[in-house]
Amino acid sequence: MNIQYKELEKNDARKLINLRISVLNTDPYSFSITEDEETQASEEVVQSAIESYANSPNKIMLGAWMDKELVGVVGVERFENKIENHKARIWGPYVNKTSRGKGIGYYLIQKARDFSFSLRGIEIVSFDTSSESKSAISLFKKLGFQETGVLSRALKFDGKYADLLFMQMSKPT
Ligand SMILES: CC(C)(COP(=O)(O)OP(=O)(O)OC[C@H]1O[C@@H](n2cnc3c(N)ncnc32)[C@H](O)[C@@H]1OP(=O)(O)O)[C@@H](O)C(=O)NCCC(=O)NCCS
Repeated sequence: MNIQYKELEKNDARKLINLRISVLNTDPYSFSITEDEETQASEEVVQSAIESYANSPNKIMLGAWMDKELVGVVGVERFENKIENHKARIWGPYVNKTSRGKGIGYYLIQKARDFSFSLRGIEIVSFDTSSESKSAISLFKKLGFQETGVLSRALKFDGKYADLLFMQMSKPT
């Protein structure tokens, strides 16, 4: 099994949309958008989002690749406004169902955490997720994050609710 990790490039936009659609299909609660909405995502908009990550020292979109297929992704962005500039947030990770359980999610979160704390002045890294994402919650805890709060019934899909769980980690001293 050969897994490679590298930053996404502009021409990976279609692969990123397809990965997100496949994860939304298997895990509809995993992020705050539906599969239908993602299916309508514009490739140009996603291309420019990838570009903005690739051109910024304060953001990263890291992909996991197997046989030239994008099988996982994680993102980090630093809050830009002055009052929140000591924080970064991780979004994702998503790994497609057939590639799970191989350590890809763990690796992506670890890299996202380490990238965040490598940025000068970052004190806190946050992450929020559906309470249904048990595997993600367990991985974030394993990597040093703690639960800090819950927004009840924040997500609603097909008449069913899920809570939004907030997690964070402070820079180790
Ligand atoms: C979260 C996710 C990225 C993990 O990816 P992965 O590549 O399978 O992760 P890993 O192989 O590194 O680790 C899986 C771990 O989760 C654990 N796990 C799996 N299901 C679990 C569950 N229901 N409860 C607790 N832990 C669970 C496994 O035991 C394993 O832990 P171990 O290493 O101690 O054995 C993947 O499950 C995913 O994409 N889920 C749907 C999207 C999602 O919810 N993303 C997070 C919020 S956007």
